[in-house]
This record gives sequence, C-alpha cells and structure tokens, in this order.
Amino acid sequence: MDKFSIFPASPTLSLPKAFILLPICLIALIFFVLYPSSDLRPQSLLTAGCSEPPPTGETPLSPPDSDLRVLLGVLTVPDTFERRSIIRHAYRLQQPGLANARIDVRFVLCNLTTEEQRVLVAMEIMLYDDVIILDCAENVNDGKTYTYLSTLPRILPGGGGTTRPPYDYVVKTDDDTFYLLGKLSQTARGWPREDLYAGMRVPCRSTEGGFMSGMGYVLSWDLVEWISASELARRKMMGAEDIMVGAWLNEGGRGRNRFDMNPRMYDYPEGPDNCFRHEFIPDTIAVHKLKNNLKWAKTLQYFNLTRSLKPAAKHYHID
Ligand SMILES: *[C@@H]1O[C@H](CO)[C@@H](O)[C@H](O)[C@H]1NC(C)=O
Ligand SMILES: *[C@@H]1O[C@H](CO)[C@@H](O)[C@H](O)[C@H]1NC(C)=O
Repeated sequence: MDKFSIFPASPTLSLPKAFILLPICLIALIFFVLYPSSDLRPQSLLTAGCSEPPPTGETPLSPPDSDLRVLLGVLTVPDTFERRSIIRHAYRLQQPGLANARIDVRFVLCNLTTEEQRVLVAMEIMLYDDVIILDCAENVNDGKTYTYLSTLPRILPGGGGTTRPPYDYVVKTDDDTFYLLGKLSQTARGWPREDLYAGMRVPCRSTEGGFMSGMGYVLSWDLVEWISASELARRKMMGAEDIMVGAWLNEGGRGRNRFDMNPRMYDYPEGPDNCFRHEFIPDTIAVHKLKNNLKWAKTLQYFNLTRSLKPAAKHYHID
C-alpha cells in the first residue's frame, strides 16, 4: 500500500486512526479548494517525499575522469529548434557507446534577437544546458567561427592554466553534419594531443597546406588558445570560415599534426561519387549535407541509431 495514501485500502479503519486522518483530509480538502492550481495542493504535499527530484540541467552522461575530452560545437542559429532537437537526440543516443571518453555537444548561437527565442531557447538551456550564446550577430562567414574559438578559453574553467585543459580537442561543425561519436573518439585516441588539426582535407587528398572542410574539423586545445591570442587570426576573421582557419594555421606555422579523414568524412550520397561524396560506409566518422529531416532519418537508419527500440509495446507501433 502506498504509504502516502490518505484512504487505506482496508475498509476497517480503527477509531484512533480515523481521528488523526479525518482532520488531515479536511485540511487537504480546504487547501485543494483554496489553491486549486498551486504547488501547495495536497497531492504535491503528500507525494513530495517520495517523488524524484525535478531534473536540474544536464545529467552527467559520462565519467568525469574521462581520458579523452572533446567539445563538439554545433554552429547553428536560434530558430532551428527542430533541427537542434534531432541532433540532440542523435548524439544523446550515442553517449552510452563512448566508454571512458567524454564528448560534450554544445549548440553555438549568436545573440538571441526575438521575444520567442528568449523563452524557447531558455527552456532548452534549463532542460539540457547544452547551448553557448556568443557575443555576436548571426553570420556564417563574418567571424562567427573566430568568435567561437576565441571565446572558449575565456568561458571554460581551467582554460589557460597549467593544469589539464578543459578539453583535449575542440570540434567546430554545423547543423547539417552528423558525427559518429564512437568512431570519432576511437580515432582521436590515436592522435597527438597538441598542434593537431584534423578533418576532411581540401584540396582533396592534398598533403600540404590547404584547410579542413567546414563540415567539421578538430583542433587540439593548444591551437584554440593560440587562435584566441593570435593577432593574425583576429585580423583575418572574415571570409569563408574553413579556409580562414587553414590560413591562420598555415601562416602561423601551426597545426603540424594534420590528419585527413577522407574517405571517412563525406557528403550525403546523392548524385555521382566524387572526391567528397560516396555511399555510406560502416567506418564513417561524419556525414555532411544533411539538409532535411529525411536525409537525417536515412543516415541515422543506416547507422542503426534506432535499432534498440523495443519492437512492440501497447502504446506505440513503428512499422
Ligand atoms: C550581444 O548581447 C550582449 C548582451 O545583451 C550585448 O552586450 C552585445 O552588445 C550584443 N552583441 C551584438 C554583436 O549584438
Ligand atoms: C546495422 O545493423 C545490422 C544488423 O545487425 C548490421 O548488419 C549492420 O552492419 C549495422 N550497420 C552499421 C553501419 O553498423
């Protein structure tokens, strides 16, 4: 029997018990009449002791003593609520496969500008705490990537100190790219932790200079700190963001550990194959150009994201 239930299941209510319970019920009834919609309803009072605490912010999804820590920043704009929801689900479903790695997915926005954004984005922050709002006006090639990278050492605890940095690697990607987090972390374990710049290299299969495609690239934390302090990067913040990151590193003599993840990063397969586009492969790290829900669905389907859904239940069927 529920110990907080007012009316015991047994019809034989002993007299002393009734003396105690009757006034409680009366008080409860009075409360209910006076405060029908408030949190002081008897229901809340009586069950407060046994209910779960409300969710507060993000639940720790991976061990705090992770041996690999990655910040995966998804640059997007405030109004893409639906896309963010899909991406959030797709990454949360992968978290159990990360073993001792920790990949924090964060949606990176510029200043909110509308009344509805201030409420709707606030709800996301309260529930998921996975949003970073930079001091900028939304743009793609007018310096948002520079603002993102150069802001991180200032806002993340531990940045700039002598202890372990807050993250080993920082990823810059967009809301049309899907990463296989397990593959990314396995691959990143084999990389040096410093002076690293990895992604899909442009020009295709080049071995010198160039840059990593804006679909998504990885920078070691020391390079993020270097960018945030670099006068060169500050002067050249405008322009196609992926080309500019390559230019800062090339001109600054940085990012000497470069890893080209082609063909494991590629565009969604539609149209004839080329150097950046081919059919899905199992060993994928990231797929790009997921411009609509169907492309997201087909990609997630191929990578078995919903495979562990219980096939049958009374309250749903998915055929
Ligand atoms: C962004 O918002 C902050 C806080 O309201 C404000 O101080 C800043 O000027 C804004 N920046 C831009 C670029 O609009
Ligand atoms: C998805 O699951 C099927 C069935 O277990 C398997 O054959 C296939 O290789 C999996 N696909 C990927 C990309 O892991």
